[in-house]
Amino acid sequence: MIDFSNKNVIVTGGASGIGKAVVEGIVAGGGHAIIFDINEESERQVQKELGKDKVSIYKVNLMDTEEIAKTIERVYSELKNIDVVINNAGIVSTKPFEEIDQKEWDKVIAINLTSVYAMTHAVFAKMKAAGNGRIVNIASVAAKRGGGLLGTSAYAASKAGVIGLTKAVAREGAAYGVACNAVCPSYTLTPMTALMDDAKKEKILSTIPLKRGADPKEIANVILFYASDLASFVTGEISDVDGGVTMDG
Ligand SMILES: NC(=O)c1ccc[n+]([C@@H]2O[C@H](COP(=O)([O-])OP(=O)(O)OC[C@H]3O[C@@H](n4cnc5c(N)ncnc54)[C@H](O)[C@@H]3O)[C@@H](O)[C@H]2O)c1
Repeated sequence: MIDFSNKNVIVTGGASGIGKAVVEGIVAGGGHAIIFDINEESERQVQKELGKDKVSIYKVNLMDTEEIAKTIERVYSELKNIDVVINNAGIVSTKPFEEIDQKEWDKVIAINLTSVYAMTHAVFAKMKAAGNGRIVNIASVAAKRGGGLLGTSAYAASKAGVIGLTKAVAREGAAYGVACNAVCPSYTLTPMTALMDDAKKEKILSTIPLKRGADPKEIANVILFYASDLASFVTGEISDVDGGVTMDG
């Protein structure tokens, strides 16, 4: 368990999968989790499981940057402070490059990359003024490999953008106590991957040295580390949590 006492932590996509496991970890560590998700029913379910005093929920469509900015303002007026933002929400795109039309491209970039810009932009000045803030972004092994395991070109490009944005925000935030790091999962057992057929699952497993998919908690453990004061001397780090798929320098 990692200590999150007296911390307000926003988790986008916190109603499902990896995000839900992160929310559980924050609450277990004594923190207050704030879920931004489009799926209100699932948000309510998580809040019911963990307690209204420990989890706040906001229905947000992360495709809409104005809605993001307005909701962040609401959080500041209702909870006063935001200590950590975990940009976890994402969608996958699996079509071959030639079949991806601009509508799909724009949607994937909006949810997976532009929302990370908008969320970070909405908190950055206040974190800077406070001299303290942590941002954790969820990229993917697809960013480094050009896709191929789960997602294809639009997904890989959006997640590679997340890595570049992470390093740029880390560079600009460092002098003001604002840290920004990213985590790159590989195949994780969540609703995002549940519908994959067995042949694809087998193909993916054959590329993972650990020969299995991750439990969402195994990804959340590393996210929670970067979200916490344990990572006080780490910024701009891109961390593979991938069962040994990447093994880069
Ligand atoms: N599952 C994997 O194998 C895997 C691998 C690598 C990276 N990732 C990344 O990890 C993150 C979490 O993935 P997951 O597997 O837990 O996914 P998931 O599908 O289980 O959960 C995603 C959550 O994001 C929310 N969301 C989607 N679109 C939204 C929108 N427009 N506005 C607000 N909320 C929205 C969904 O409602 C859902 O609660 C994603 O960024 C994903 O790309 C997942």
